[in-house]
This record gives sequence, structure tokens and C-alpha cells, in this order.
Amino acid sequence: METAELKERPEAVPQTRLHNFSAGPGTLPEAVLLEVRDELPVYGSVGSSVMEISHRSPDYSAIEASARATLRKLLGLSEDWHILFLGGGASLQFHQTALNFLPAGGTADYIVTGTWAKKALKEAAFLGNARKAASSEDENFTYIPDPATWDLDPNAAYLHFTSNNTVYGTQFHQEPDVAVPLICDASSDFLSRHLDLDRYGLIYAGAQKNIGPAGVTVVLVKEDFLQQRNQPLPTMLDYGTHTAKLFNTPPVFPIYMVDKVLTWLDRLGGIDAIAQVNDDKAARLYGRIDRTDFYRGTAKVDSRSKMNVTFRLPTEALEAQFVAEAKENGLVALKGHRSVGGIRASIYNACPPEAVEALIAFMDAFEQKSG
Ligand SMILES: Cc1ncc(COP(=O)(O)O)c(C=O)c1O
Repeated sequence: METAELKERPEAVPQTRLHNFSAGPGTLPEAVLLEVRDELPVYGSVGSSVMEISHRSPDYSAIEASARATLRKLLGLSEDWHILFLGGGASLQFHQTALNFLPAGGTADYIVTGTWAKKALKEAAFLGNARKAASSEDENFTYIPDPATWDLDPNAAYLHFTSNNTVYGTQFHQEPDVAVPLICDASSDFLSRHLDLDRYGLIYAGAQKNIGPAGVTVVLVKEDFLQQRNQPLPTMLDYGTHTAKLFNTPPVFPIYMVDKVLTWLDRLGGIDAIAQVNDDKAARLYGRIDRTDFYRGTAKVDSRSKMNVTFRLPTEALEAQFVAEAKENGLVALKGHRSVGGIRASIYNACPPEAVEALIAFMDAFEQKSG
């Protein structure tokens, strides 16, 4: 399969399926949905659905093994990296990362670039000296703070950052260049582009934006970093429990779907291919926003996200009308988060270029009529 497949709708997709710009849970590849539909009552030769088999059965083990192998291939993860599929959402990771890696009497640095980063800092601060090394809250999180202004602690155990800010539409365009290991909340741009793995100790991502449905969080943790964790820890919250063995019942169905999305991405051409598609989609949409004064991007240009595109119209009344009329035209979930207002178009990996083209055509028509 080539990237062309992202553009061509499988024939079996119901006509009532709309262009979905949801920030999360986000749109899933249609080819995956059709495959899952076909396999739902009976998976392979097991005689039941995948939801009804033991998580210790060979059939389920094969699914997890496949997901791990494909993820390793896509990201180029060596065996130094553990891959975990955990419950509790990315929100649990805010606390779990600090519980494992913020040492008693030590510090950790946090770059606060939005709601989620703020929550990560809050949950870490329950446990010890989690420092706000930089923040863009002074301008409603419209930018990524210049690294030259960061107040870093050279002895910090790690630096935590949120690679993409789902609510405010900003994104780090490269990894922070610091001496300490990075912990990253990559929930809303995971597998949308390459990662410089050497910089990281741990990466986590809730699946429900770029790699599957809600219910599973992917955690990548490097062995040497893992060995530095605090001990002892409550069993379920110790990453070591999960790297050692399948400790409890994992979220089987979401993992099964993640495996399918990873396979879809691999067949599409992997990270190189999707990163190109994502660059093109974002360039087209920001190009449309910038073409006239009618639409105004909310994020500073050099901090713009390629996943969540946020913009305003001249008045709130026009914004409400835009969202309503877009829906009538088959373009849904475009209302911005209440803390930013306006419009947010989430254009994750599985959002096809044709959806972005349809949105741009609608923006043109709406401006012509109302501008
Ligand atoms: C960047 C980011 N981090 C964390 C979260 C929270 O994820 P969860 O709902 O899986 O706990 C979200 C949810 O939208 C997010 O966008």
C-alpha cells in the first residue's frame, strides 16, 4: 500500500461517515475499521471475538507481539527499549513517571506549554521538587518558550515536556536539547514524525489520537533509565512490574486495534511517509488560514502544531455559524476548546488529505459568503 491509499476511501465505508476533525478520541483509518468490523464476531480461528479470549492465550500473545514488532520497526526501537501497553490514560502517567523517576531529595524540570503539561507538573509536585523550568502561560500558551530562557537545573533527574499541545495548537519542532534524559507526553503527535530516541528515557502516549481507540497508553522506557527508578514502589505503579511480565489483564481490545493501526501505518510507508503527508496537510491548511485576514491562527507561527490547527474568525457569532454550517457540509468536531475558543481542526495521521481539502473548500466558501 502506498500513501495513495490514505486518499482513496474503501468502497465499503458507509456514505454517512463524515470528515471528523475530533481532537480525541480522533478519527481512525477506515481500512482498519472495516477489518475490525469483519473480524468482530469471530477472530481468526479462535471461534469467538478477540474480546472473549484469554489474555494469556497464544492468539492474544501473537497480537501483542505483532504490535511490539511493528512499533519497533516504525520507530527504529532497539531492544534497549521496553514497550508497555498500560491502562489509566496519559493522565496516570503524569504521576507514575514522577513516582518512578523523581528521586527523594532530587528535582525534575517541567516545560509548561499547556493544560496537559500543567497537569503533569501538578501530579509530579505531589511527590517532590518538580520545577517549572519554563512556561508560556503568560500568553495563553500560544508559543513554545525559547530554550535560551529556560531555567534548568543541571542536576534534574529528567526534563518533562509535552511534544504537542492538543488544546492550544502548538508543538515542539525538535526535542529539547538538554543534558538530562527527556520524559515526553507524546499523546497527540505520537508516530506522526521521527523521534531522536537517544535523548529520551521515557515516552508515553494515550492511544486515542494517533494510534488507536481510548483505553490503552503506550509507554516506551529505556532499560538504563528504568534501572534508575525509585524502589520500592506499589506493584501496579512500578514500570518494572510490567517490563518483567504480563502482570494483569491488559486492555485487550484497544491493543488489538493499535496493532491494526500500526500495521496500516507500516504498509503506508511508515513514519517517513506519514510525516510527509502530515507536513503537506498542515502546510495546506495554514496556507489557507494565512491567505486572508478573515481567518487568524492562534498559535505563533514558529510554534504551530501539525496535528491541531487552531484559528479564529472575526466574531464569535461567525465562529458558531462556521461550526454549524461545516457540520451541515459533513465536516464535524471543529469547535475549539473552551480555553482557546474559535476553531480547532485536528488532523492526526488517520485524517485523510481529502478531509483537509474539503475543509479548505468550505473555508473558502464561508469567507466568500460572510467575509
Ligand atoms: C497531550 C495530552 N496529554 C494527556 C492527555 C490526557 O489523556 P488521557 O485522557 O488519556 O488521560 C491528553 C488528552 O487529550 C492530551 O492531549
